[in-house]
Amino acid sequence: MKHLEEQVTQADSLGSLEKIRIELFGKKGALAAEFAKLKDVPGPEKKAFAEGLNKSKANLQKLYDERYELLKKEEIERILKAEAIDVSLYSNLEAKGALHPVMATMDKIIDYFIALNFSIEDGPKVEDDFHNFEALNLPKNHPARDMQDTFFCKDGGVLRTHTSPVQIRTMLETKPPIRMIAPGAVFRKDYDLTHTPMFHQIEGLVVEGKGEVSFANLKAILSDFLHYMFGEVEIRFRPSFFPFTEPSAEVDISCIFCEGEGCRVCSDTGWLEVLGCGIVDPNVFKAVNYEDVSGYAFGLGIERFAMLLHKIPDLRMLFEGDTRLLEQFR
Ligand code: DAH
Repeated sequence: MKHLEEQVTQADSLGSLEKIRIELFGKKGALAAEFAKLKDVPGPEKKAFAEGLNKSKANLQKLYDERYELLKKEEIERILKAEAIDVSLYSNLEAKGALHPVMATMDKIIDYFIALNFSIEDGPKVEDDFHNFEALNLPKNHPARDMQDTFFCKDGGVLRTHTSPVQIRTMLETKPPIRMIAPGAVFRKDYDLTHTPMFHQIEGLVVEGKGEVSFANLKAILSDFLHYMFGEVEIRFRPSFFPFTEPSAEVDISCIFCEGEGCRVCSDTGWLEVLGCGIVDPNVFKAVNYEDVSGYAFGLGIERFAMLLHKIPDLRMLFEGDTRLLEQFR
C-alpha cells in the first residue's frame, strides 16, 4: 500500500493524477485486486483483512482528494498567470482617422447657409475660359486676370482659379431667384506660408428681382455669418476691386490673436482679411442673359478660416497629412 500512497502524493499534474485514480480505484484497479483477495482469506482473518483494506482505501481516497485540490489550485493559478492582462502597459495604439480641419470648417460654413435656404452647387474643376474668366467680366488681356496665377491645360481649359465660375453655371442653368453657395477645390500657381497650389473656397450668390437686393443685405448676412464663425469680433467692410462685382469690398475681422492690439499674424494692423464680396456687376448678368435683376456675391478661402479658427501657423501643414496634426481633431 505504501507505494500506492506515494504514487498519489507524488503525482505532479492533474493528468497523471487522473491516470493514477483509474489504476487505483478503477474496476480493474489495484484496490479492486486487493478486495478480490478477500475471498481466499481464511474465515477468522477475513474481518481484520477487510477492515485493513477499508482503512487503506479511505486513506488513499483522502490523499487523492488532498492532492487533487492542491493540483487544481496550482492549475488555476497557472492559467490566471498565463492569461493576465497588464492594463497599465502601453500597446501600439491604432491611428484613428478624424475629419480633416478643412472639411470640418467647410461643413460648419455650409451648415450656416443651408439654414438660410441656400442651395449647394457644384461645377467642374477643369473649367473653360468662358466660365472662369470671360463671363465673370474678365475679358481676354484684361489686367485683372493677373490677380490669379492660372494653371492652363493643353486643350485650352484651365484648372479653375476660384469657385466663382459655379455662379455662371448656376445662372445659366436656372432662373432667378437664386440663393446658392459653391464649395470646392481651386488651383493657383503659388506656394508659400499662406498659399498652396490647391485650396478650397466657398462662393456665394444671391440673385433677385431688380432693386430687391442691396449692399445692406450683403453686409447684414456676412456680418452675421462672421459672428457665427468667429464669435464676438469687430467687422469692417473695406472698398476693394473685383471684376465681377461693383461696388466691391473686402471684409476684415478684428485680429482674433491680439484682439486688435497688433501682432505678427495681422502684420500689426489689428485686422484680418477674411473674404471678398460685392454687388454683382451688370456685365456678369449680361453674360448669362439676365435682365431686371439685382444680386450680391461673396467668396472666401476655407483654409484661411480653418487656420484662424484653430490657430494653425502654416497653411502647408494642412496638406502634409502628418497624423500629429490630424489626431488633434479626433
Ligand atoms: N473669386 C474671388 C477670389 O478668388 C473671391 C470673390 C470675391 C468672390 C468677391 C466673389 C466676390 O463672388 O464677390 O479671390
